[in-house]
Amino acid sequence: MKISKALLPRKLKEFILRILEIKKEASSKSFDLYYHLRFSFKEHNLKDDQAQFKYYLTKHYHIVEKGLALPEPRLGFGQPKIADIIEKAQRYESLFGSDELTASIRKTLKEYIAFNSAQNFELPIQFENLLSEFIQQGNTGNSGGLKDKKKNTSSTLTLDEYKDFAIGRTSVRNFSEEPVSIDLLYKAADIAKNAPSVCNRQGWKIHCYSDKNTIINLLSYQNGNAGFTHTINKLLIVTADVKAFTNFESNQAFIDGGLFSMNLLLAIHAAGLGACCLNTCYPSSKEKEVKTAAAIPDNERLIMMIAVGNLKNDFSVAYSPRNPTEQIFVPH
Ligand SMILES: Cc1cc2nc3c(=O)[nH]c(=O)nc-3n(C[C@H](O)[C@H](O)[C@H](O)COP(=O)(O)O)c2cc1C
Repeated sequence: MKISKALLPRKLKEFILRILEIKKEASSKSFDLYYHLRFSFKEHNLKDDQAQFKYYLTKHYHIVEKGLALPEPRLGFGQPKIADIIEKAQRYESLFGSDELTASIRKTLKEYIAFNSAQNFELPIQFENLLSEFIQQGNTGNSGGLKDKKKNTSSTLTLDEYKDFAIGRTSVRNFSEEPVSIDLLYKAADIAKNAPSVCNRQGWKIHCYSDKNTIINLLSYQNGNAGFTHTINKLLIVTADVKAFTNFESNQAFIDGGLFSMNLLLAIHAAGLGACCLNTCYPSSKEKEVKTAAAIPDNERLIMMIAVGNLKNDFSVAYSPRNPTEQIFVPH
């Protein structure tokens, strides 16, 4: 017998709706888990997948880089880890050839030897030979290891200057008709990539769309662009590659992707353009549809869309007041 919804008591209706919501949330979480298990790299069972391999190597050689950047690095630290990096880097080069990553690993290991030798610390001879042979097998490149910094040039802005700049960024939902230069967005991406990420993994990507029909189609899946869709000149979709992450890092895609997106928004603001984040809070089936329509590979998760346009000479933005700082800053 079918009972009409209207006849159900209010409490029972609320209960059924809650159960349905919990079911949807659980399905969305199992989707997260499915993606994480399917695409993340496995520390103890690394597959011959170039992207996963790169992320693994980046994670591990960065441990040496940051070890060297400590106030008092432990002499001869990390030998078993370094032997593993060398073994994996050689396997990587035999499969995919040498590149900037393997050059950075070599530069870092060269600095590791130099650090120990400057402290008159003798590495075990077999280990030192392993390092030297690996270093000689390829280029050392210019990046990796340490770079020197000076306190007085570490920041080029005062806090007040940064405050003016950061407060000057607001979401813009009313753009001029002037097209946005792709080159400018490329430059913004080039700056945004300096965002921090877990062990320097940099699993982020920006997909940039210029074609009006494509933009309108992609925005038809999104629920927060009504009223300004037609004024959007470029649509960016920020994603994070699940292959960049490993055990207990399933949330990291969204953390690193969010940090990167903020850096990108500030760079777009510095470029004199306007932007508005557009949420990608989708159920799993819709995320798949959007990725297909946007030609985004399945191993990437959607972080957010960003609508971009040029600014009009005069325009209004939502005030979006902020909560008092004493409510968010909790000294302990
Ligand atoms: C991840 C994310 C998703 C957002 N989605 C939308 C959206 O779909 N539509 C919209 O108009 N604004 C969206 N916003 C913009 C927020 O409403 C806005 O950032 C907030 O009100 C603060 O205002 P401000 O950006 O002007 O400082 C989003 C912001 C973020 C960070």
